Amino acid sequence: MRALVYHGPKNVSVDDVPDARIERPTDALVRITTTNICGSDLHMYEGRTDVEQGKVLGHENLGEVIEVGAGVDRVKVGDMVCLPFNIGCGFCKNCEAGLTGFCLTANPGSAGAAYGYADMGPYNGGQAELLRVPYADWNALVLPEDAREKENDYVMLSDILPTGYHGTELAQVGIGDSVAIWGAGPVGLMAAMSARLRGAGQVLVVDRQPDRLKLVEALDATPIDDSAGDAVQQILDATRGEGVDRGVEAVGYQAHDHQGQEKPGMTINSLIQAVRPTGRIGVVGVFVPEDPSASDELAKEGRFAFDFGTFFFKGQSMGTGQANVKKYNRQLRNLIHRDKLNPGLIVSHELNLDQAAEGYQRFDDREDGWTKVLLHP
Ligand SMILES: NC(=O)c1ccc[n+]([C@@H]2O[C@H](COP(=O)([O-])OP(=O)(O)OC[C@H]3O[C@@H](n4cnc5c(N)ncnc54)[C@H](O)[C@@H]3O)[C@@H](O)[C@H]2O)c1
Ligand SMILES: [Zn+2]
Ligand SMILES: [Zn+2]
Repeated sequence: MRALVYHGPKNVSVDDVPDARIERPTDALVRITTTNICGSDLHMYEGRTDVEQGKVLGHENLGEVIEVGAGVDRVKVGDMVCLPFNIGCGFCKNCEAGLTGFCLTANPGSAGAAYGYADMGPYNGGQAELLRVPYADWNALVLPEDAREKENDYVMLSDILPTGYHGTELAQVGIGDSVAIWGAGPVGLMAAMSARLRGAGQVLVVDRQPDRLKLVEALDATPIDDSAGDAVQQILDATRGEGVDRGVEAVGYQAHDHQGQEKPGMTINSLIQAVRPTGRIGVVGVFVPEDPSASDELAKEGRFAFDFGTFFFKGQSMGTGQANVKKYNRQLRNLIHRDKLNPGLIVSHELNLDQAAEGYQRFDDREDGWTKVLLHP
């Protein structure tokens, strides 16, 4: 089969690799029809993880089931399915509690498995013609009859929509709340959409990319351009000096100032300033325990100076981590089916699998207008 293979920093190509196949009775085999490039893939693409060469990337996958193992009961050949980026087992302590981002079975010795991702188990990704889906009855979300026609919306259920939603859940966004979101990439935009869905009264989104800030407006939220002035001050001004009730971090450890200088702590410390006393912060941007290619010594060990004094003094609290996609994807699917949500509106490019390397490069360069790239194998 054809698949997008990681060969080293900024070096990916679409190669012929052995077909994905059923390996265990609980597996399903899916022919991928849409698979996205994610901001999380860029951490690997830029050589900022220890992902192994030869790995097939791709964790935002949707397609048709073409074969099931003997132990699969619920999922049928012909079903259109969207796969959560997390691979869970369904029977460990964490999966039982709905914490499927931290499965204790699928990636032994660690908590959490995913397709085509560094440190998330031996699974290949779905930027390929075929994908092996472990524990298929547990993991596959079966889509309704409009799956084909709303494929660009449903594919967002694999990651960024539930992840954006998870950010607002960790921050406990509720009716009437004011919310500040750092990052207007796909995850930040989905957090803005989710905050609206949960009844937030005011949604402010910080970035400096004009095309992305324009999408913030399209989502009925307020863009905050931090290249035009201090973002925290702009948020305090917009909330009569009070600060926002809730904050969401949707940038991650490669946060940088608008000149491009990396400062991994800048978004978290800004959130601590911008959120009101006793407010809550949800962190879904990825942070890593080790980052050997980081520019400063602390960051190499996954650390940064954290304004803990202010955080404590303000009585704030914070939730973090990978999104437990399965906790939300069914409900969000139903909203897409009923035309209440259209996350596909952020899609900027649809490419063939053979154009994937170019898609990576242009998305990574943040070329104007390259917001969300979908591949159709
Ligand atoms: N927790 C999870 O389960 C999960 C799932 C998917 C993605 N993620 C992570 O979420 C983060 C965002 O993903 P994405 O796909 O939107 O990525 P992206 O790279 O497309 O977007 C990041 C955005 O942040 C902006 N940015 C950078 N530094 C900033 C700063 N200091 N202040 C404000 N904005 C800044 C960039 O201009 C860009 O628009 C990544 O770290 C990704 O790995 C986490
Ligand atoms: Zn993703
Ligand atoms: Zn599990």
